[in-house]
Amino acid sequence: MTEDRYARFSERYASGDIPWDSGITPPEIVELFAELPAGRALDLGCGSGTVIRDLLRQGWRADGVDFVQKAIDIASAKLSGFPADAYRLFCHDVTRLDQLPDLRSDYDLIIDIGCGHSINTITIEAYAHAIANRLAPGGLFMLYASHPRRESTVGWDPRTVAAAFAPHLDLLWEQRSDDKTIGALASWYKMRKAGLITGHFMR
Ligand SMILES: C[S@@+](CC[C@H](N)C(=O)[O-])C[C@H]1O[C@@H](n2cnc3c(N)ncnc32)[C@H](O)[C@@H]1O
Repeated sequence: MTEDRYARFSERYASGDIPWDSGITPPEIVELFAELPAGRALDLGCGSGTVIRDLLRQGWRADGVDFVQKAIDIASAKLSGFPADAYRLFCHDVTRLDQLPDLRSDYDLIIDIGCGHSINTITIEAYAHAIANRLAPGGLFMLYASHPRRESTVGWDPRTVAAAFAPHLDLLWEQRSDDKTIGALASWYKMRKAGLITGHFMR
């Protein structure tokens, strides 16, 4: 993992400087609750577990991965009222998903809200490949990533995202907005892995 990034995120959780932690699941995810039957989800860079909490409330099973132990601790506390077999939290680097044998390879939904765009230890192509490997046929990937800007090393250009994921997933839409919390343009992407949705009750 990038020690530098890890140290920065760890410090921010330790000092409570986590402005992204609104406690609210974004509408782009909430819309999916009406669109999809409850299935199995994976949240990459899950932070304090807000999205996992709301997935569980909707009857989903959900796993979360974050490399900061403090984030995992906050998420554990937030989720403690749910059945223990409904969710799993992993303190781990999302660039090394292959080292997490307990993860599924047939998630119906994978979410990355503001995590992948700060990764520079693997290429976006490798990240796209790893995500596609974890999705069930017909599964969705929801990505929120800021655009590159001069004063930051964080950010993915929408054309780079489209090109990196194109071999694995179909891009259904991209929506751009001005993200006031980071002072930059950002995009939501909705992508789907080709194939028939078999339905989680059959698996
Ligand atoms: C901007 S925060 C977003 C958190 C959460 N998705 C949300 O929307 O509230 C990015 C999160 O990704 C985590 N993260 C960043 N790089 C990571 C990596 N390589 N592996 C695991 N987690 C990572 C950080 O610790 C942080 O919790």
